Amino acid sequence: MQSPAPAHPIHAQHQVHVREVTLGLLGCGSVGSAILELLERRRQTFADMGVRIQVAGVLVRDASRPRDVPRGTPLTDDPSFLNKCAVVIEVMGGTERPLELLRPYLCSGRPVITANKALLAECWDDLRPFALAGQLYYEASVMAGTPVIGPMSTVLRASTFQRFQAVVNGTCNFILTRMEQGLDYPEALAEAQALGYAEDPPTLDVGGFDSAHKLAVLARFCADGRFPFQAVSVQGIEHLTQPDIQAAAARGERYKLVAELMRTADGKEDSWEGWQAKVHPLSLPGDHALCSTAGSRNAMLFEGDECGPLLFAGGGAGGMVTASAVVGDLLDWLIGFPGHVPLHGPEEGLGAETNCG
Ligand SMILES: NC(=O)c1ccc[n+]([C@@H]2O[C@H](COP(=O)([O-])OP(=O)(O)OC[C@H]3O[C@@H](n4cnc5c(N)ncnc54)[C@H](OP(=O)(O)O)[C@@H]3O)[C@@H](O)[C@H]2O)c1
Repeated sequence: MQSPAPAHPIHAQHQVHVREVTLGLLGCGSVGSAILELLERRRQTFADMGVRIQVAGVLVRDASRPRDVPRGTPLTDDPSFLNKCAVVIEVMGGTERPLELLRPYLCSGRPVITANKALLAECWDDLRPFALAGQLYYEASVMAGTPVIGPMSTVLRASTFQRFQAVVNGTCNFILTRMEQGLDYPEALAEAQALGYAEDPPTLDVGGFDSAHKLAVLARFCADGRFPFQAVSVQGIEHLTQPDIQAAAARGERYKLVAELMRTADGKEDSWEGWQAKVHPLSLPGDHALCSTAGSRNAMLFEGDECGPLLFAGGGAGGMVTASAVVGDLLDWLIGFPGHVPLHGPEEGLGAETNCG
């Protein structure tokens, strides 16, 4: 009689203890639903790390609405599941409500991953102590799945930062491209809205405020960790006309909505602590690196003395593109990397007081 096969030696030696990690998700729109799908796709990656992700709750406004999410997803309009979560992902948007939900959670010392640049830009006084403590992960908040915050918060600090110029809003890209094809601004905007590329009202995008949110988030890695959103001067694309676009084309140039941060002389108008931060429509030579962006693609030209000019380009919007950065942050936290720590003085930094009182 044949004896039973011995246990596979590798399996016998590597009995992995599986740790269950409870995760809470705030929001289940384009990004939240893609995160749930990606958590399923990466199940083996988590298992290889000895982790099983257990989704404890998914917060939405209307839990009865049918959605395209994995079977058994615990949708709810009651955020009390946050109490039992080891980690929370916030992709609900807005500022007041997410801050109200996250503050007590952060005060308990637990980590938050967010794609919400408006929250980061506008509520920085509240969030900065937690970012300094390494509890905040937010790669997805700028350029979605194209990693810029990771390099800026780590290796690029070895270089003396001089300037960046970035195209970080796909809606404006779309409208400007359609204007180059002959549409007037109102026609191009109406088309963007009909296709679901622009919100109604569209001010956040076309007024430049979404780009300004992203610029403020990045300035805290390149210029000053306290950089206030209010220090960004903002001009949108609403006043660009067909003659402006045509005159640029005649010069071999193209208009882009550019977010720009650079060193400036102290005391100069619009400057904050020796930095100038602005969002404005800029006519660029047609072969400029930022002109290669189209649709929701984003690009950034980063200049540091030692690293030289660097170009980052890639997807800047879309559910799964954004989810890839969010789940990347989750993997970083599981590995043990701290969150994205902004620039800070010697008395601050990892382990800083969070002042939760
Ligand atoms: N979409 C992108 O390409 C992208 C890229 C980068 C970053 N982001 C950021 O990611 C975040 C989410 O974007 P999104 O496009 O996924 O938004 P979305 O499609 O509008 O989804 C928002 C989700 O949050 C829920 N929600 C909103 N307010 C709520 C409240 N007060 N209470 C309970 N639930 C609430 C909504 O519930 P209901 O479904 O019941 O309405 C919905 O499920 C935003 O901060 C955005 O700036 C988005």
